[in-house]
Amino acid sequence: MCGITGYIGYRDAYPIVMNGLKRLEYRGYDSSGIMMFDGKNILLSKTKGKVSDLEAITENEKERKVGQIGIGHTRWATHGVPNDINSHPHTSQSGNLVVVHNGIIENYDTLRKELISRGYVFKSDTDTEVLINLIEEVKKNEQCMLGKAVQLALNNVIGAYAIAVFDQTKPDEIIVARLGSPIAIGIGKENSEFFIASDASPFIEYTKNAIYLEDEELAIIKVGRDIKVRKIKDDIRVDANIQKLKLSLDQIEKGGYDNFMLKEIHEQPKAIIDTYRGRMLADQGIIRMSGIDDHINKFLNADRIIIIACGTSWHAGLVGEYLIEDKARIPVEVEYASEFRYRNPVITSRDVVIAISQSGETADTLAAIKLAKSKGAFVFGICNVVGSSIARETHAGAYTHAGPEIGVASTKAFTTQITVLTLIALKLASKKGEISKSELRAFMQEMKLIPKKIETLLKIDDKVKEIAAVYKDAKNCLYLGRGFNFPVALEGALKLKEISYIHAEGYPAAEMKHGPIALIDENMPIFVIATNKGHYEKVVSNIQEIKSRSGKIIAIVTEGDTQVKEIADHVIEIPETEEALAPLLTTIPFQLLSYHIAVMLNKNVDQPRNLAKSVTVE
Ligand code: AGP
Ligand code: GLU
Repeated sequence: MCGITGYIGYRDAYPIVMNGLKRLEYRGYDSSGIMMFDGKNILLSKTKGKVSDLEAITENEKERKVGQIGIGHTRWATHGVPNDINSHPHTSQSGNLVVVHNGIIENYDTLRKELISRGYVFKSDTDTEVLINLIEEVKKNEQCMLGKAVQLALNNVIGAYAIAVFDQTKPDEIIVARLGSPIAIGIGKENSEFFIASDASPFIEYTKNAIYLEDEELAIIKVGRDIKVRKIKDDIRVDANIQKLKLSLDQIEKGGYDNFMLKEIHEQPKAIIDTYRGRMLADQGIIRMSGIDDHINKFLNADRIIIIACGTSWHAGLVGEYLIEDKARIPVEVEYASEFRYRNPVITSRDVVIAISQSGETADTLAAIKLAKSKGAFVFGICNVVGSSIARETHAGAYTHAGPEIGVASTKAFTTQITVLTLIALKLASKKGEISKSELRAFMQEMKLIPKKIETLLKIDDKVKEIAAVYKDAKNCLYLGRGFNFPVALEGALKLKEISYIHAEGYPAAEMKHGPIALIDENMPIFVIATNKGHYEKVVSNIQEIKSRSGKIIAIVTEGDTQVKEIADHVIEIPETEEALAPLLTTIPFQLLSYHIAVMLNKNVDQPRNLAKSVTVE
């Protein structure tokens, strides 16, 4: 995944494109680059590293900033190491065509060889340079307009892309196209200017009108004219669907926090309320979710539910399995999307698939959805990003309404996904008669208290910081939990790995004695969730086993706990709640802990190395 941004209109393009790159940097930060067209010439500035490095290069060189047309890119490298040359934008052999690209051209090697045989010389190792030269070759051979050349070239490409292409010999237009990677076009008043971006955040202060291209669509953007959208394969004209954006500027800014991750951790109480608002009518004992209501029989008659997702979303899916099986008594399987799609799974039209994805763009999850659909399964999506590919590809779904999540390490997406899964479990349980009206009401009343309880928990930050200071230099950590809290252990370990680069493993607490116990010595911190409901006594025994081997115990316990306090090295108390709701609370200290450790180790919390916010490659 990477970030693409661009501008064509009457304003200076440089600040718009540069600012856009900063907002899209969460999508990739191996290198960045910008092309400016000053009316006569194109000027490329690109560099390995962060957008701030690019800005440093361009800052004092006025000529690099001139013009009302610009395109920019922040890269997450797939083909070719992150260096200056491999950075985008890439130019064609003649130097006339310029492209920024998000995705992968899978058949780049064949195309590259073919182009080399026709005299093309490549400067970079990227698949993207192959694409722009292919477009040039087609344009030359067919003697056609840029839009047509892009279309014909893309018909020869296998892979995924969102691209913006500019031709300095016809500098009044930009061509954009997509297959598998998102692209939005912001439309200025009376078509006086256009903005291009991987998501709408770079242009939110300029316009609320936007078109999100669909897969296999190409748009010709020309100032003063309506955008023309065509289907890439069959070359038919389609109506551009102009949407009104709901995103606001403060949603995508740090709002006084040092970084997005901390902001997003603190947003969880509100995000959870936004997720259940209008859906959970606690007083009436009703759950209203149109995506489920409209297809209720699919769920009730399903042989089983298969949950597919990756990473943190997969962990939420695992909580979903425990919830749906416990409450609604429907068999559930949870699969890594990347495994599911390639392992020839048995899927039938009697299966319901729930796909979970914050970004709604994860390539493996998208491919798994397509596979499930091809076998006749009904697919329900849980996404955060409105209008994302997964949201569109699924038969029905529910948004998490968490607001933009920009920190690469997922936090509020996780807790809001669990909130949606809880609502689904309760809805199905009540429809099946597995839960009485009064039980349902009581459960929902408790759920309504969760945001307040998270607020209380967020106040223990200082305590978590103290613990972080003690264990920040650990080389390895274990995270243990049982039942509903087992996925939280996995998620806790993932958070630590992602942003502090400390090796951590999550395990079901009782599984520890089947292997990981061999790792325990006095240097090993073990984070154990030992809340009062759900196998408490058993977890206490696990803690004793660790203690006898000199491991350091940091336990998450329920307020008022005395037993664990006596044996643990540190305890973090969480408010009392229903067992099935505990993950919404127990996950908070783990988020804060990894956050503080990463800050103490001087790591880039929002943009951990090698990662990108969503993985749009397979
Ligand atoms: C979470 O902290 C990770 N960055 C990652 O595991 C993420 O959850 C995963 O890539 C799935 O992304 P999605 O929810 O956008 O599909
Ligand atoms: N495949 C291209 C590259 O490696 C684009 C990657 C991206 O999406 O950033 O340069």
